[in-house]
Amino acid sequence: MNYNIAVIPGDGIGPEVIEQTVLVLDKIGEIYGHNFNYTEVLAGGCAIDKTGEPLPEKTVEICKSSDAVLLGAVGGPKWDNLPGDQRPERALLGIRKALGLYANLRPAILFEQLKDACPLKPEIIGDGLDICVVRELTGGIYFGEKGRKDTPMGEAAYDVEIYSVEEVRRIAKHAFEIARKRNKVLTNVDKANVLESSRLWRSVVIDVAKDYPDVTLNHMYVDNAAMQLVRNPKQFDVMVTTNMFGDILSDEASMVTGSIGMLPSASLGGNIGMYEPIHGSAPDIAGEDKANPIATILSVAMMLRHSFDLEKEAAIIEDAVKKVLDQNYRTGDIYSEGQKLVGTKEMGRLIIEALC
Ligand code: NAI
Ligand code: MG
Repeated sequence: MNYNIAVIPGDGIGPEVIEQTVLVLDKIGEIYGHNFNYTEVLAGGCAIDKTGEPLPEKTVEICKSSDAVLLGAVGGPKWDNLPGDQRPERALLGIRKALGLYANLRPAILFEQLKDACPLKPEIIGDGLDICVVRELTGGIYFGEKGRKDTPMGEAAYDVEIYSVEEVRRIAKHAFEIARKRNKVLTNVDKANVLESSRLWRSVVIDVAKDYPDVTLNHMYVDNAAMQLVRNPKQFDVMVTTNMFGDILSDEASMVTGSIGMLPSASLGGNIGMYEPIHGSAPDIAGEDKANPIATILSVAMMLRHSFDLEKEAAIIEDAVKKVLDQNYRTGDIYSEGQKLVGTKEMGRLIIEALC
């Protein structure tokens, strides 16, 4: 099969982690007989330098005509003083909007080998954690009506949480599909005891569940979910929730796993998914061969799974990462004494070796 991938290396460590990830993908293609074709495009600070704008129209066109988008990271101190609408980060919002990416998946994976990096007690994390937060990305209070008005109590401001049945249905379906491919347990997180929007949200999730009798559905109020993530995170497989609750809970979930250099993400919605590490361009270590490429390599495993339905190939990449960690190889962000410190390129090479 042929797969066309738009590749956005971006700024800082972006090009370094992307380079290793593309080599991993090439090896997967070689082993399993797939053709991954890459079109490298500009976005972020490097695009500003070369074209004057963070997201050139050509980049959007190429992303739209690809099968998936792989992004490194954008931004850096060089562009910090630009006005908000001209900053490198605008490129991210622009691509999400252009591709209709309403579902944000952030797996929080704590590998057994990295248990030391987890702030929770060993008896709570057991043999590791693997939670996937599915956050609605283009609706809810972040996009609802907002404004200010005078009231008897003085000036007031408001932001409206609003969800349509269709918006909830499509994200719920996404979450059920993901749960079906994992351990078949979905926790819906809302605040249905208080919010009308949450009551609608919950009723739609229950309705969608009829098409997924093989997936166990639980409901949890968001305040309890925040507590349970720390108290008993192993009860979770997939969590689905609104834009704001997901923003908060996915940050909480990712912190229990230790290093930012390990965590991948996928933004899904229309026909084309975008995959990127959750970290930024790390200007403090850029160009020094110090960046951990694992978050980006795991992002490409998500691409194989969610965009191309290549589950076996995705699992092979994840296993290769575990093998290399088992052999005690570590980049600086996950290194502790007595382990083998390696750079970006060497970590990439070891993972490729472990694929075979
Ligand atoms: P950051 O994630 O770039 O860095 C935070 C800290 O984590 C730094 O000490 C960095 O060295 C370390 N780190 C990050 N990724 C690492 C990796 N793969 N391996 C080893 N260490 C790693 O966040 P920061 O410093 O707040 O932002 C730097 C720039 O990146 C800013 O311009 C920001 O706007 C941008 N940014 C871009 C994002 C994106 O493209 N999706 C996301 C977050 C920030
Ligand atoms: Mg956030």
